[in-house]
Amino acid sequence: MRIYRTADYQEMSRSAARILAAQIQLKPDCVLGLATGSTPIGTYEELVRQYQAGWLDFSEVKSANLDEYRGLTRDNDQSYYYFMRQNLFRHINIKPENTHIPDGSQSDASAECTRYEHVLTQLGGVDLQILGLGHNGHIGFNEPADAFAQTTHCVDLTRSTIEANQRFFAREEDVPRQAYTMGIGTIMRARKILLLVSGSAKADILYASLRGPVTPQVPASILQFHPDVTVITDEAALSSFLRQ
Ligand code: F6R
Repeated sequence: MRIYRTADYQEMSRSAARILAAQIQLKPDCVLGLATGSTPIGTYEELVRQYQAGWLDFSEVKSANLDEYRGLTRDNDQSYYYFMRQNLFRHINIKPENTHIPDGSQSDASAECTRYEHVLTQLGGVDLQILGLGHNGHIGFNEPADAFAQTTHCVDLTRSTIEANQRFFAREEDVPRQAYTMGIGTIMRARKILLLVSGSAKADILYASLRGPVTPQVPASILQFHPDVTVITDEAALSSFLRQ
């Protein structure tokens, strides 16, 4: 595991975009595993800048997102489908048919999760998976649990996640209570992982994830067992390391 310290969110985003750009240049038809949330927005902005400058070509790139709220249709402005369109896809030349996100409008959870795992298998697996880190240590929507989930599944979101995500919704009761997410096993099958963490509010959970015991109670701690993880974090998020 490599941990890169950057001064702030902007530098973290630029560093992450450089890694993604290198991945695309080295393997133009690569499969990128993408995340939503606040953390990767700056990285996506930087990728869009590089595309607009003519440095990047997404015409053969394929993508698979980590997760989606269950119960939201794709045109809902809180869906992760909508987020990806707004923040990345509509600004670059990725082909819509090459972008994959669990379909939150499918009410048959088991069928949708099976379909999504099949999509990932057909893609040949993820080359580079971007992850953000939840305040409770979740990755994707794999919440603290008694065991690591292997494959894409439907989860009940914890109170902490509902509260953290409330900022994007008009009212707390509008936050969906369930989501479809890649499992920990699905995430661990990615060939390379890029974990992005910013801000002092994540400092303790970042330390617990990377230096604490590996436990499903801190889902991100499993990354200690992955052979190729790059962590890019700003100084604020590293503050618990610096105190040790
Ligand atoms: C998003 C996702 C989540 C977020 C995490 C951090 O697709 O899978 O695990 O990465 O909740 O969210 P932010 O970046 O908003 O702090």
